[in-house]
Amino acid sequence: MSAPPLPGRRWPFVLRAPGKAILFGEHAVVRGRTALVMALDRGTEVAFEPRRSPGGLYVNGLPWHELGNPYLAEAVRRFPGWGEKDVSLTVRSQLPRASGLGSSAAFTVGLVAGFLLPEGEVARDRLARESYRIERSAQGVGSPVDTSASAAGGVLAVGARSRDDELWALPPEEGSPGFHVSRVNAPPWAWAAAYSGVAKATGLVVRRVGEVFNTSRGEEILEAIDRVAREGERALGREDRQEIGHLLTENHRLLQELGASHPRLESLVEAARPFVEGVKLTGAGGGGSVLALPREGQEALLLKAWARAGGVPYRLSVSPAGAGPRGEALPVGDHPDHVPGL
Ligand code: MEV
Repeated sequence: MSAPPLPGRRWPFVLRAPGKAILFGEHAVVRGRTALVMALDRGTEVAFEPRRSPGGLYVNGLPWHELGNPYLAEAVRRFPGWGEKDVSLTVRSQLPRASGLGSSAAFTVGLVAGFLLPEGEVARDRLARESYRIERSAQGVGSPVDTSASAAGGVLAVGARSRDDELWALPPEEGSPGFHVSRVNAPPWAWAAAYSGVAKATGLVVRRVGEVFNTSRGEEILEAIDRVAREGERALGREDRQEIGHLLTENHRLLQELGASHPRLESLVEAARPFVEGVKLTGAGGGGSVLALPREGQEALLLKAWARAGGVPYRLSVSPAGAGPRGEALPVGDHPDHVPGL
């Protein structure tokens, strides 16, 4: 299955870019192992409009440089001239920031798509590559998992191994080992996530996890996570809910061992157990969110149990579409008007 390019167009337009949830393989993917990621039906919108008065690029009513947003700063650095364009951006997101649900990647992909569209048709592999470069420079570390999901939509397998069925490859560069991105079967299941209310701590957790990866047990954990992700791909192919549930729980156990969990995430995992096939933390961890595959008919009970346990619950499904222009405004979400990453 391919990913059709975005047709070029001129302002004004609104770009909608989906968030993401990692099913399997966070942290291990940074070391080239397999991760499975799904694009979400919740996302971020970036509206591009010409400004009537000169003054360069404005975002949510402020000159871009006053925002101090690292993703925006890096995007403007990589697309020279954009800081001086008389364009006004309005950013609205349905994703809580620092929740592990990809708000920064969605913002970056929406921004890059909007920068590129006036030049003509935009190939999705280019969108994914430029967005990944910006995210990696802004964060200092990272894999193309989040930005690829937002650019391509659907469910993806991402890893260092090349495959015959790949959508595209991101060649090695500037400290990135190179990645291959393939499409994976996306069963039409209802998923759910709960935000812990504690901002994820990517830098801290990546350092802590790195220390474990450098021990003799580290290589075993990396291989175990890779195996879980690859079995996960086969189980999605068979649409085997029970096996996916079992693998989610197994992946969570490995992430606990890496030191990526948090007491608030553990209480959300415990609250979910009676109602789910499986549940795990999703994204970098140290805060952020948990992801679950609810048992059929148990979704409402799960969401209630999470709310009682102090989480912010979300019903989720896969967005088959990646980033693209849309005509209508985003329905007022839970997190309007913030610029993700601030
Ligand atoms: C990203 O959401 C989660 C990590 O795997 C980092 C990355 O892949 O860039 C921890």
